[in-house]
Amino acid sequence: MERTVLTSTLMLGADAADIAKAAEILRAGGLVAFPTETVFGLGADATSDRAVAKIYAAKGRPAFNPLIAHVADRAAAERQGRFSAAAAALAAAFWPGPLTLVLPLAEGARVCALARAGLDSVALRVPSHPVAQRLLAAVGRPLAAPSANPSGRVSAVTAAHVREDFAGRIDAIIEGAVDVGVESTIIGCLTETPVLLRPGGVPREAIEAVLGARLEDVAPDAAIRAPGMLAAHYAPRARLRLNAARREPGEAGLDFGGHFTPGADVLDLSPRGDLVEAAAHLFAYLRRLDADHAAIAVAPIPDAGLGEAINDRLKRAAVR
Ligand code: TXA
Ligand code: MG
Repeated sequence: MERTVLTSTLMLGADAADIAKAAEILRAGGLVAFPTETVFGLGADATSDRAVAKIYAAKGRPAFNPLIAHVADRAAAERQGRFSAAAAALAAAFWPGPLTLVLPLAEGARVCALARAGLDSVALRVPSHPVAQRLLAAVGRPLAAPSANPSGRVSAVTAAHVREDFAGRIDAIIEGAVDVGVESTIIGCLTETPVLLRPGGVPREAIEAVLGARLEDVAPDAAIRAPGMLAAHYAPRARLRLNAARREPGEAGLDFGGHFTPGADVLDLSPRGDLVEAAAHLFAYLRRLDADHAAIAVAPIPDAGLGEAINDRLKRAAVR
């Protein structure tokens, strides 16, 4: 069900044939770990909810944090996010490199809802590592890639670490060496004042020098969770009733495993009860039901595997 059980994980090098193989796996929705200049990333096609769901399953993430979408260059980034003047200056100064910019989602952007954890913003980074660069060019799509370590463990900086943690659970690992060893610096550029969401590979002083101003600090969790701090915080308008045995009159249904009686107002996250499929549908279906219903009954969802993250997100969405 929610486990990604594979018989073997391909170990790949950085030559053209191996990069082409990795790109093929990624375009087909698989998981490939690859080196970046900061840490190893656990990559998936950022435009596919289904591929991104596999990242959370493999990492054992307790919640759906928004992920960084890696792109080949500034032009590719501009198709996904809207750059303020400050964001443009930072990109010019530090890309390619260990800097991530959180930007308002661009019109027609393709980074999927699950990679953004349902937010209307997107975290973008152009890595400088030659292997990451070649991979992004070969895939031709943004790659969602959190650090390649199980949830709650330190980030992986060697292919051997990644192999210890993920052998048999991801499709391939590209060998290579990282350089920085800590994750990228994340700067939120959603308002006129850029804020430091996560310290990382580009020092604060270097960023302040480009901006000509002091950087404000915001804990990333606070920024993501506290409505109002981020204009783009996603919370449904509809009232959510969790763990519902049945739908009450007037309620739409967010179903799982065919629990509710089917109907025009019911969307089933996974009729066959697959939690990875359910995670892939979660944000899109919530939005669709929220668009024209004031109340949504949510069927019981098992708390195992990705179910824990799904239930965590639903509980947050139900608080009003
Ligand atoms: O160095 C790195 O950045 C590594 C390598 C692999 O590139 N990647 C990495 O990705 O650390 P990830 O997905 O683990 O970083 C996710 C963090 C979130 O925890 C959150 O702090 C921030 O990025 N983030 C992503 N999207 C966001 C958004 N829309 N709003 C605010 N913060 C966001
Ligand atoms: Mg991490």
